[in-house]
Amino acid sequence: MRKSIVAGNWKMNKTVAEARELVSKLLSPLMEIIDVERVLCPPFTSLFAVSSMLDGSGIGLGVQNMHWEEKGAFTGEIAPNMVKELCNYVIIGHSERRTYFGETNVTVNKKLHAALKHDLTPIVCVGETLDEYESGRTSEVVLRQINLGFADVDPAIASRIVVAYEPVWAIGTGKASSGENANQVHGQVIRPALSGLFGEENAQAIRIQYGGSVTAANASEFFSQSDIDGALVGGASLKPEEFTSIVKAAVK
Ligand code: PGA
Repeated sequence: MRKSIVAGNWKMNKTVAEARELVSKLLSPLMEIIDVERVLCPPFTSLFAVSSMLDGSGIGLGVQNMHWEEKGAFTGEIAPNMVKELCNYVIIGHSERRTYFGETNVTVNKKLHAALKHDLTPIVCVGETLDEYESGRTSEVVLRQINLGFADVDPAIASRIVVAYEPVWAIGTGKASSGENANQVHGQVIRPALSGLFGEENAQAIRIQYGGSVTAANASEFFSQSDIDGALVGGASLKPEEFTSIVKAAVK
């Protein structure tokens, strides 16, 4: 069975002092929930402080973005080997990066290859906008994001990828998808697309998270579904008790 993975995407929140305070509240409750892969994704400036607090805890650390190049004249960017010094995970192609910072399926693909090369676990986000959802284009959009974003990945290492299905209309809106709707996209669109690219066995091993207004109140509705293997949590990951409840709900 696929072990659930729950990641907290802090987005652009928390100074170093605030990050320390949040982690100090999360540390011992999260350390107890060993049956779930737990990951925190703070802003770059807090990585060093958080990484020393997480040392030996079994809790993973990730970044919210990175560049695909190894080094050089890319002002403001962070390279994969810099990430790897402190982290094991990287969120790629979050809808906010696609919407506000011009990320495309092509840059997602470059970042995915860079992450795999540097032995980072990529959490690759896909999902349709409200307009696309309302016009019945969810499958078309998600298939395109997967086929272009995951192009040329060696099937032998594909099971290291984590996919996050995040309908854009559900992110930060308080209007989560239903468990049933998300499971349908996971099981009938995303997993078959992964199977087409990497073969059925590898597709079955890939974890597919749901993201978009996940809370302590709705988490079990998602985790009880057959094709939902965890969650990418935004707003609720900034609240220690709420995030802990979500991680607990992910225990199979
Ligand atoms: P949200 O964000 O949980 O605040 O909706 C999810 C995400 O953007 O990863």
